[in-house]
Amino acid sequence: MQNPWLEIPLSDYEAHMDLPAVDQASMTASELSCALSLFTPASLAVIGCAGGNGFDAIPPSVRRVVGVDINPRYAASAGERYAGQVAGLEFHVADIQRDPLQFEPVDLLFASLVFEYVAIGDALVNLARVCRPGGRMVTLLQQPSPTLSSLTPSPYDSIRLLSPLMRLVPPAELAGEAASAGFGLVFEKSLTIRSGKSFVVQHYCRDEDARSAAMCR
Ligand SMILES: C[S@@+](CC[C@H](N)C(=O)[O-])C[C@H]1O[C@@H](n2cnc3c(N)ncnc32)[C@H](O)[C@@H]1O
Repeated sequence: MQNPWLEIPLSDYEAHMDLPAVDQASMTASELSCALSLFTPASLAVIGCAGGNGFDAIPPSVRRVVGVDINPRYAASAGERYAGQVAGLEFHVADIQRDPLQFEPVDLLFASLVFEYVAIGDALVNLARVCRPGGRMVTLLQQPSPTLSSLTPSPYDSIRLLSPLMRLVPPAELAGEAASAGFGLVFEKSLTIRSGKSFVVQHYCRDEDARSAAMCR
């Protein structure tokens, strides 16, 4: 069976994310912008980049920007939108839990709302190969709500295809798998957006010795 993300038109996904009951796109963009200000990377990879949400705020000091997505149409759309606006832009179509990632390691990996759809251990081993030692990874995980369903009911029928695939990942589980892959957790925060949905942002440092992230502080 093919991955459901390959069957969802980008227009459906983006319209769904903009629904008042979802309203997640601006949060992701804002967290990317925050990570870029904090870590001032020269190279960045956005994992599960969709149509390039947040790319408009990438400063020219980031000289190489890699967008990775399983859906080739998403990557093509992001390329059309941001070619010429974002320096050193390249896209890689890959399933991060299966395909070796074929690009030079970067200073910062940004992975927002993607671990909900993959085998996290396999994906993290793969991602560790494209994060330089001492580099950072910022992750954003959706958290369960006592009143809201994980996948917000949507007028865009294709979004329902995600239901059997989506799994909310406990932050401690991600941190444990990340440590095994060589990423030490250095910071964590929770945030809740207007829709009432909650998220956890984690900052990791890629260290040859995941038990010692001191060099990253
Ligand atoms: C919920 S969207 C998040 C998009 C963006 N990161 C954001 O936060 O606005 C998940 C994205 O991850 C991509 N994706 C899902 N599974 C993937 C996989 N196995 N490998 C690569 N990309 C994947 C989807 O195609 C989609 O663009």
